[in-house]
Amino acid sequence: MKWRRNLWMHSPSRRLQALSCRLVFAERRKKFLEAMGDGAVAVIQGARRIPRSNDTDYPFRQNSDFWYLTGFNHPHAVAVFRTDGGPAFSLFVEPRDPEMETWNGFRPGTEGAMADYGADEAHPSHCLPDKLAELVGGARRIFHVLGVDPALDEKLFQILHEMRLRSRRGVNPPDDMVDPRSALHEMRLHKNAGEIEIMRRASAISREAHQAAAHLAHGGRNEYELEAVLDYTFRRRGSSGPAYSSIVGGGANATILHYVENDQPLVDGQLLLIDAGCELEGYASDVTRTFPIGGTFGGPHRDVYEVVLEAQLIGLEASKPGACLDEIHKATVRSLTAGMIELGLLAGGVDARIEDESFRRYYMHGTSHWLGLDVHDVGNYTVDGRSRPLVPGMSFTVEPGIYIPPDDEQAPEALRGIGVRIEDDVVVTADGHENLTAAIPKSPDEIEAWVRDGTPS
Ligand code: GLY
Ligand code: MN
Ligand code: MN
Repeated sequence: MKWRRNLWMHSPSRRLQALSCRLVFAERRKKFLEAMGDGAVAVIQGARRIPRSNDTDYPFRQNSDFWYLTGFNHPHAVAVFRTDGGPAFSLFVEPRDPEMETWNGFRPGTEGAMADYGADEAHPSHCLPDKLAELVGGARRIFHVLGVDPALDEKLFQILHEMRLRSRRGVNPPDDMVDPRSALHEMRLHKNAGEIEIMRRASAISREAHQAAAHLAHGGRNEYELEAVLDYTFRRRGSSGPAYSSIVGGGANATILHYVENDQPLVDGQLLLIDAGCELEGYASDVTRTFPIGGTFGGPHRDVYEVVLEAQLIGLEASKPGACLDEIHKATVRSLTAGMIELGLLAGGVDARIEDESFRRYYMHGTSHWLGLDVHDVGNYTVDGRSRPLVPGMSFTVEPGIYIPPDDEQAPEALRGIGVRIEDDVVVTADGHENLTAAIPKSPDEIEAWVRDGTPS
């Protein structure tokens, strides 16, 4: 093809980026190929464009597993990995197409898949069904995620069926169909220094965004103005945007765990919960801070805030190698439950209230989740039925909260409608943890100061 033959002409900075990261993805592929064992073929599908309406799509976001292994950020691609003697890494990609590229932007095509993404072989995506029989024909084990693309599943079943029919002629279908996610997610759970550095940079951007939003936490503003400044800061600093729908909840909206409407006016004297983090180079940060609107915590607000803060510090303290998320959760729950009793939300003793789980009325979610390419990242939480011991390189959140519904007649009146959550991102180190979001203040005085710095003059 003469047209736009030179890939450099088209997208030099993206091309440089792809080339500079190539080694990272190559190392991951090497590890994944080892995990596959000999005689195996893995088919890993990338994300597709998702129509929003008619010919308009939702913003494209690559499948995290596919990204992790390829760094290829274009839709409708499939990677095939082989340890059966065939090419170790093939990419099936949308081919270059002058007309489509005019409408939708640059495609690396098969040429770019090999030159920039390290594929040993590349083919147009539409060739995959016809090539599938040849690809899996000699495999003893197939790695494939069922249920993502029913047409591809069907094709694969048909191929396996036909192989079985020919068994008398010495054709042996593969013995196993394995879900590649077990191996891949175990790899993704353990972050290396490069990934942790990206997460540090993501945390710094999230800090700046929370600070900018805190400056606007004053009566008369609307939640959406703060969401806008979060988005603006994320993008201005080069992240792709929020890693999940930002939560900006004033007053009782802070008691709704997944509040995302973000369209109500802020009222001085109430609390504001912001749960927002950026996505940088695919990696999520996930941060919650709770601010007093107008810059001064009222008495009951400060009381609840301090209970949550103490529990969060206890959760952080417990975040170290050898501990497990279940222990962190239990330590946090104990502290929160004691605080709920002091606040008059619960009656009786701490053990009894933990035992009967009545703390769940005001703390109904877990304390931690893995963090990485996905905000609720992948990786098994348990091994042999037990919460798994933490090791250096694992990253997760510590995010206790107390949420008192506005109509909760069991709660002291002054506490009704208060929602507080404090969330940091940590990575386990050899002797404890690094709190990636430690630079985002959370002591009540610092929090007040952040809001007051933005007081309208
Ligand atoms: N922002 C989602 C969460 O905290 O889990
Ligand atoms: Mn979280
Ligand atoms: Mn969060």
